Amino acid sequence: MDEINFFPENLNIKDQKIILRLDLNVPIQDKIIKDDTRITLCLPFINKLIEKKAKIIIISHLGRPKGVNVPELSLIPIYRYLKDKLKTNVYFFRGVFDNETKEKFSHLKGGDVILIENIRFFKEEAEDDENFSKKLGALGDIYINNAFSCSHRKQASVHSITKFINKSYAGPLLKKEITAINSVIKNKKEPVTCIIGGSKISTKINVITSLVRKVNNLIIVGAMANNFLIYKNVKIGKSLIEKNTKEIIKNIYRVAEENDCEILIPEDCVVGTNLKGEGKNKNLNEIKDDEIILDIGSNTIKSIKKKIDLSNTILWNGPAGYFENDSFSKGTLSIAEIISKNTNEKSMVSVIGGGDTIAAIKKSKSKFFFSHLSTAGGAFLEYLEGKDLPGISVLK
Ligand code: 3PG
Repeated sequence: MDEINFFPENLNIKDQKIILRLDLNVPIQDKIIKDDTRITLCLPFINKLIEKKAKIIIISHLGRPKGVNVPELSLIPIYRYLKDKLKTNVYFFRGVFDNETKEKFSHLKGGDVILIENIRFFKEEAEDDENFSKKLGALGDIYINNAFSCSHRKQASVHSITKFINKSYAGPLLKKEITAINSVIKNKKEPVTCIIGGSKISTKINVITSLVRKVNNLIIVGAMANNFLIYKNVKIGKSLIEKNTKEIIKNIYRVAEENDCEILIPEDCVVGTNLKGEGKNKNLNEIKDDEIILDIGSNTIKSIKKKIDLSNTILWNGPAGYFENDSFSKGTLSIAEIISKNTNEKSMVSVIGGGDTIAAIKKSKSKFFFSHLSTAGGAFLEYLEGKDLPGISVLK
């Protein structure tokens, strides 16, 4: 396997323009950052580049604006955050990329930082457009991808940009993530249990088909589980689902059976009629047409506990419910507690991934122990699956 080009610590980058791809995709509500974990993890490397007097051009996305300018998905709150935390000049750029853009960056001095507005406001980003990538690449001398969590996306600022810049490297955070996940893949002890939840269903549903070939147990929670419940003819009211998943799920069950992988789905749930307020624990046959499944129920938590207690390796991605409302965070926090206890007391190996999973855990203020906490969601799953991630293969 080709080696990844990691950013060499001792490289002289004084006055070099570094394009730094980060994942600053954090939850923001009413312009307030709800969880800054992903940003704080990026700060040490930005500070190192500042110390080395590089000119730092930061690119990130936020949410999925699909090529249009969505004000709620502006990086301005993150710009303010960086301005507050970094002891240097921090600028914000929200223009277009053309032949004059380079000129607009010429005022940068060594150690200065400029944050580019949400790169997904440009439709060319998601299209991995070569022309757009060329314009981005022209802004810098060196490209560093420090966003493992975006590396499964074949998008301009992660993929094609590397064709139009002299040198491309993987940053230290990306290195840390893949080193930790590689070590789990290499040393994993059976039984291996994978827990998948969250609401980014389309990103994960296909990955599951290949995971069932590699793990002993698969536990499905969160909005992801709704598709499995529908498949089992459970009436799920107004709960969130992804269309046309029947064939995929049928195939998942078939492959699971062939590979001796047990699939566990919720046996009860907590429902509400909207995202606010309290929930009710219900059996699956009691869900009314106007209700939404917002968490796993208490019997499901018990069954999950049994499975985790019998496992030696746990891979977990995606919350079990709508944790943003405390009434629906019990499933997620119970899973976190059970994994943490097993990791601490019987050296179970646990890798926890995903922006939402981290946000849910951080929100609780409890102290949890995991072998590795990954910032990545979809990328983490695809990497586990053994896929060559587009953003990483271009760094080899
Ligand atoms: C994530 O939250 O997993 C990353 O930021 C990637 O986001 P995406 O799934 O919208 O590409």
